[in-house]
Amino acid sequence: MKYAHITGWGKFVPQRVMTNDDVAQLVETSDGWIRERTGIGARHVAGVADSTASMSINAAINALDIAGVAGNQLDLIIVATATPEHAFPSTACIVQDALGADRAGAFDLSAACSGFVYGMSLAADAIKAGSAQNVLVIGAETLSRVVNWKDRNTCVLFGDGAGAVVMQASDQPGGVLSTLLRSDGSGGDLLILPAGGSKMPVTHEAIDQHLNTIQMNGREVFRFATRVMDRAAREVMHKAGWTADQVDVFVPHQANMRIIESASKSLGIPLEKFYCNIEYYGNTSAASIPIALTEAAESGRLRPNDRVVTVGFGAGLTWAAAALQWSQPRPPSRSRKTLSRVGYGIAGMRSRAKRVLRRFEDRVFGTLDPTLRPPAPGRNGKSSNGNGKYAPAPTPMPTQVPSLPIPDRDASALESGKQPQPVDEKLD
Ligand code: UT7
Repeated sequence: MKYAHITGWGKFVPQRVMTNDDVAQLVETSDGWIRERTGIGARHVAGVADSTASMSINAAINALDIAGVAGNQLDLIIVATATPEHAFPSTACIVQDALGADRAGAFDLSAACSGFVYGMSLAADAIKAGSAQNVLVIGAETLSRVVNWKDRNTCVLFGDGAGAVVMQASDQPGGVLSTLLRSDGSGGDLLILPAGGSKMPVTHEAIDQHLNTIQMNGREVFRFATRVMDRAAREVMHKAGWTADQVDVFVPHQANMRIIESASKSLGIPLEKFYCNIEYYGNTSAASIPIALTEAAESGRLRPNDRVVTVGFGAGLTWAAAALQWSQPRPPSRSRKTLSRVGYGIAGMRSRAKRVLRRFEDRVFGTLDPTLRPPAPGRNGKSSNGNGKYAPAPTPMPTQVPSLPIPDRDASALESGKQPQPVDEKLD
């Protein structure tokens, strides 16, 4: 039987710190109110060079160093995020490229603040099923870019950062022992980023109404969170065969200190057993649990063989929990770390070489459709967009969604339960 152990951990937070007093310069609030109602004292905010991918890569490098795993040994990369680098390509693919993980599948996972625990659960299942040996699971967010800095109901809460773990197959009992994944889409409107998806593109109107920023019904989310923290923790402990008093450390999603205190009360577990760092980071959504796990491990609060329970909850609505036995880290090795750095340097050069080769192939062999060619470089060798970076030819946007050549009778056929005709046949 295979077990899925966490063998490496790492975090990255942007340098810039915004205190409650800084936020109070933007909206009508106070350090006192924020601390009393949430437990938050400060949050890290992305600078111009920080993004979800860059923070993910930094956290991942630290986690791989501790695990002693090279990028090209990874089988799978999962990035849990609600603020991906782009809609596509996935942030996970950008991480894969930077790490030189050329044997790995990579995908983003959208389950908001529960995303990291969802990812850990999928990784554990892949390892236990034998389809992966080494998996990198990252939780990363750049929430400062989707927060309305004029809305005091939300802007005081969120922060940026990334956390990562390496999970590895082992015959030794331990690691992730039980997990639980749940959802309730009926509460989707309680915490939502309305614009920017296929339903509502980001238009001037959407921006004017702040629909491209987080909208939240705080009280309802609070109620939901206190309910599910207790239930989900009990269920994973039961599945792992543990009682609450056997758990050494609880690592909850860091959304609000009052939610954590309520879980402590209802589970009958002293608050000292909960690892809390919300004071310094605020709510970093999918990144909050891996950042907390990393800090708990680095500070010696998490020791080998400790029994750990994590619970995440958030938009969707989603919630998830895991019971795991903490693993022994490998002794640190300088030479391994140096070798890894060289490996990432080579990965960067190889990635650039592949891009150049693709452009060269395109010039030599051409594409079928000349409009798909990238702009030709200018006389100074720079691409014609003038900033020196490769930029694909802009895709003309249709002013109206084109209607599909399917006759109206389709809808009625579907409604009456009849099979629709194949499209080709109908067009004849
Ligand atoms: O990751 C998961 C996602 N999010 C969460 O888990 C958040 C869950 N919810 C919460 O943490 C809390 O509901 C909040 C921290 C968001 C709000 O705390 P609350 O104790 O539920 O406050 P409230 O919304 O009931 O508002 C109480 C008062 C209101 O004033 P009135 O109507 O009583 O006069 C608000 O207008 O506090 C006011 N208020 C503020 N005052 C100063 C709301 N936000 C602020 C603020 N500063 N930032």
